[in-house]
Amino acid sequence: MLQYFFGLVYLSAVLLYVALTGTHAAECPLQLNPQRVVVRYNGSVAVNCSTSVQHDGIGWEASEGAVPMSLSVSLITWRVSNLREWDTEPFCFINTKDGDQCSSYLPVTIYKTPDSVSISTLNPIGPMKEGNQYELQCDVLNVAPVQNLTVKWYKRETLVDQTTFTDTIKTPVDKTVTLMIRPDRSDDGVQYRCEAELDLGAEGPQPPPKVTSKPLSVKVYYKPKHSSSNETINISNEVTLNCTVKANPPPTYTWDSEQLKEKITSSVLPSSKLSPGNYTCIATNSQGSDRKVFIVRSTARTTFWAIVIAGVVVAVLLIGGYVAYKRKSSPNSVI
Ligand SMILES: *[C@@H]1O[C@H](CO)[C@@H](O)[C@H](O)[C@H]1NC(C)=O
Ligand SMILES: *[C@@H]1O[C@H](CO)[C@@H](O)[C@H](O)[C@H]1NC(C)=O
Ligand SMILES: *[C@@H]1O[C@H](CO)[C@@H](O)[C@H](O)[C@H]1NC(C)=O
Repeated sequence: MLQYFFGLVYLSAVLLYVALTGTHAAECPLQLNPQRVVVRYNGSVAVNCSTSVQHDGIGWEASEGAVPMSLSVSLITWRVSNLREWDTEPFCFINTKDGDQCSSYLPVTIYKTPDSVSISTLNPIGPMKEGNQYELQCDVLNVAPVQNLTVKWYKRETLVDQTTFTDTIKTPVDKTVTLMIRPDRSDDGVQYRCEAELDLGAEGPQPPPKVTSKPLSVKVYYKPKHSSSNETINISNEVTLNCTVKANPPPTYTWDSEQLKEKITSSVLPSSKLSPGNYTCIATNSQGSDRKVFIVRSTARTTFWAIVIAGVVVAVLLIGGYVAYKRKSSPNSVI
């Protein structure tokens, strides 16, 4: 019975000891400085490994820049001036006085900015057509690590899409990303570009290195479209009929009206050719056509003055007639 009791106490004491010191005991008495590195491919790197305990040897194991075990020092440096080993996994090790060996691994990220970033379109040559769907392509060549790569698409200065990658490969790869677009008339002449950015975290270069493609100007063909299908205009000396409308390629114009004797191909009809009536203008390009009707009326103002003048004329005639009649019916009164 008592045996069990002491057994339990002993067990508790051991568990307590492990709990208090366990994490410490499991740790290797080595400090790496810095604790992780981000290095440009072919760049240089130096990391210190130090210890504060007595030991039977300390060293660096690595495919490049290994440091042989040394007994007399407390700090050794892993140093490579041109790091070209993509999957190097250096670690520092120590032989402790109690005969154990332990080691500390150094996480190394080797990066390489892309050789080129280019943008292209997969369409047959020539402008795009409004409302159709097209694919833009971005080619990123020879970049590492792809896990930290973000490919961003910009329309003008606006970010419109971005892609990241989950591949864990450490060596450089090529990546192709596509963007679907459905351009409209307002997109004619707009510029797209793509950008490859390497986000390497706090240890990496700041700001994150990036390579941008040349801009790609999108040309869009669209048919003419008037803002209104008809317009009523009161005739006057200054009035012209303007059928000009934006379209790509630029439209040609035809006019149709009973009032017109000649064929007109300009987008504007001058007042000299106008009399009241309907004028239909048709703007046409390779993408389609759009018509607009101008309804030309004699002005309300003109009508008003015509009535006033007619009234005055009638009044004058009536008064004149009355006076003449009076003279004729009573000749004595004058003489
Ligand atoms: C590594 O140790 C050397 C020598 O003590 C020191 O000059 C250097 O600054 C250390 N480097 C880092 C990154 O701590
Ligand atoms: C970059 O990649 C490393 C692994 O190489 C990862 O630990 C880190 O979180 C990544 N950083 C970003 C910002 O994606
Ligand atoms: C004139 O345009 C308006 C709307 O823009 C439309 O409702 C109307 O029917 C058109 N009139 C003619 C004669 O085309």
